[in-house]
Amino acid sequence: MRIESSAPTGLPAATGLPADPLAGRRILVAISGSIAAVKLPQLVSALAKRGAEVRCLLTPSAAALVSPVALASLSRHRCYLDADQWSHLAGRPLHVELAEWAELVLLAPLSATSLARWVQGMADTLLASTLLATEAPVLAAAAMNTSMWQAPAVQRNWQLLQAQQRVLPLAPAPGLLACDRLGDGRMAEPAQLLVALESLALWGWQRDWQGLQLLVSAGPTREALDPARFLSNGSTGLMGVLLAQAARFRGAQVRLVHGPLALDPALLEGLHCTPVQTAAQMQAELLAVQPDADAVAMAAAVADHRRAAPMASKLSKAELATALTADWQEVPDLLAELVARKPAAQRILGFAAQTHLDPSGLGLPQARAKLARKGCDLLFANPIDLPHAGFASGLNQGWLLDADGKETQLPLAPKLAIAHQLLSALRPAAAGPRDLDPVASDR
Ligand code: CTP
Repeated sequence: MRIESSAPTGLPAATGLPADPLAGRRILVAISGSIAAVKLPQLVSALAKRGAEVRCLLTPSAAALVSPVALASLSRHRCYLDADQWSHLAGRPLHVELAEWAELVLLAPLSATSLARWVQGMADTLLASTLLATEAPVLAAAAMNTSMWQAPAVQRNWQLLQAQQRVLPLAPAPGLLACDRLGDGRMAEPAQLLVALESLALWGWQRDWQGLQLLVSAGPTREALDPARFLSNGSTGLMGVLLAQAARFRGAQVRLVHGPLALDPALLEGLHCTPVQTAAQMQAELLAVQPDADAVAMAAAVADHRRAAPMASKLSKAELATALTADWQEVPDLLAELVARKPAAQRILGFAAQTHLDPSGLGLPQARAKLARKGCDLLFANPIDLPHAGFASGLNQGWLLDADGKETQLPLAPKLAIAHQLLSALRPAAAGPRDLDPVASDR
């Protein structure tokens, strides 16, 4: 049976914008038996709308939980079931055809049984044999009852999976499960799976940050004026959160300290997060964690000023005018403070949100002066006044400056792609090639 490729559906008309990392990619969605399978139609629909070519493969338990007919319709292609595996009409085995067709495999949800089959190298079902036969990177999102997940046998199998190449494993998240348990077992949310798939498409599965700790700050801070009002800015936190996720996917242990975010909370799944409100709280959290970090990425948009003392009661309209001009103080520069305290081998990346920084490099001298003033190893200067870049956009662009005078232009790209580029530059050299996986060349 041949797995024909058709022109991807839903491709946007040429816009001059960078391509979606998932558009045109051949993605095999492999679904095993967990109730989380009911979330897959939504995900398959999102992939098809983004122009990916999608094929769905279901185990018998998955097919009992979610309709292959719905998935066929949403993926614009027939689904594959165990009964299809062997046919006298096919010249080549279906599992080999599917394994070779796929550029990326999304294995979600991954049940305890399918995990066990996979890590033990069994090939007794269409899913199991396709997983053994494929050389494509696999995003594997486990989901099951909490006690099943905690069972020593499942934990052993999960550990075996960590050692496997070409796999990006996503452990189940905590939550209220369909079995009424409150605990670990929930499959990563579709929004999280999409980011992880994008990361596989952009970077691959290589864990070059394995064994390294990254401290990231993200989002704005809020400096209270009175109990009702505050000074803040338009940062959504997306750039910092994607940096943190990309580093996690590359094997780093990540600590994220963030101000109030304006994004889908599912994007935070799997991260060790410390939410804060004010610059003072952010400062305390960052300084507490800094000594253990191999690298720091200061993506937060820290407010520049705060009241010397916030008002205890709400100001009237008349009082507000005076309060807006009197009694403010500058917020200390957290980045400069981190630089002053950094252990010798620690690498620090700062950000500079700039206006009048165009792709020709106009505005770069100000960015270079800021790098010198702050003393960090790297500074990413990004425009916030160009279309499709900066705050509240999924795209970004800018210049990466290093302390040795090197300037690298990063053209307009999805923020996740920018995040991967920044991580490659920030990775401490001392980590060395020992942490690079041997098959990095198939990226
Ligand atoms: N930053 C910081 N503490 C502050 C202000 C900024 O740590 N109080 C950090 C930001 O997280 C960012 C970098 O410094 O990594 C540059 O921030 P930016 O707002 O561009 O610079 P400012 O120092 O505020 O300078 P200016 O606004 O005058 O250009």
